[in-house]
Amino acid sequence: MKKLIIGNFKMNTTPSEFKSYAMTLATKVKGAKNTVVVCPPFTHLSVAREILGGSKVFYGAQNISAEENGAFTGEISAKMIKDLGATYVILGHSERRGQFKENDKLVNKKIKTALANGLKVILCVGESLQTRESKQAQNFVRKQLDDDLKGIYENELESVVIAYEPIWAIGTGKTATNSDITKMAEIIRKEIELQFSPKAAQNITIVYGGSIGLKNYKKILSNAAINGALIGGTSLDVDAFTLIARENY
Ligand code: PGA
Repeated sequence: MKKLIIGNFKMNTTPSEFKSYAMTLATKVKGAKNTVVVCPPFTHLSVAREILGGSKVFYGAQNISAEENGAFTGEISAKMIKDLGATYVILGHSERRGQFKENDKLVNKKIKTALANGLKVILCVGESLQTRESKQAQNFVRKQLDDDLKGIYENELESVVIAYEPIWAIGTGKTATNSDITKMAEIIRKEIELQFSPKAAQNITIVYGGSIGLKNYKKILSNAAINGALIGGTSLDVDAFTLIARENY
């Protein structure tokens, strides 16, 4: 089954380092059946256009401003990344929600801005360890979906990928089990069905993220409940990332 394999570089690598990464990636993923996306820092996007433009690898950013333009010093707009050929943008990552205090209202506004500018959104949702231990994970994720997707039209969901990333699994080496992932994917589809329609629930793309590496990618990606993976740390290793991207699942 064709999967969506997304790399999230976070705040790692320089544009020059990314140039050689992208050159290797473009060569090594030739013929891969999966859809491959890399999301490096903003400063790398013109390099991405130069090296990956015209290749089969898509690229995107890790954030955008909710605003279209104006007096927002230090911010980057949807139009700017679109102009550099970005297809995707990661929104609502737990590092932005946690460290930069982005709430669901802001994430919702950013999603609308991204979609209005023709970008595809990778919306991250997922619970903390505390929420999981208090058996509130499903309710928490449901509420995130309700709030984040408020006012989005059903036809726009084609451009939305839901990334289930339990916070306790990000960068910790602890991944959710396949049974956890399947259960949460079912909850996500159910919530999409309630908010939109059964058809939307069936068609929504769901990926899992959190400590995916060479030891566990096969098991996770062969889970039919999900459509792909969001990979942080391991995506920085071009050999590991291309291996994962090339595999048939
Ligand atoms: P990780 O990060 O693969 O390093 O756990 C995933 C993410 O935060 O997207």
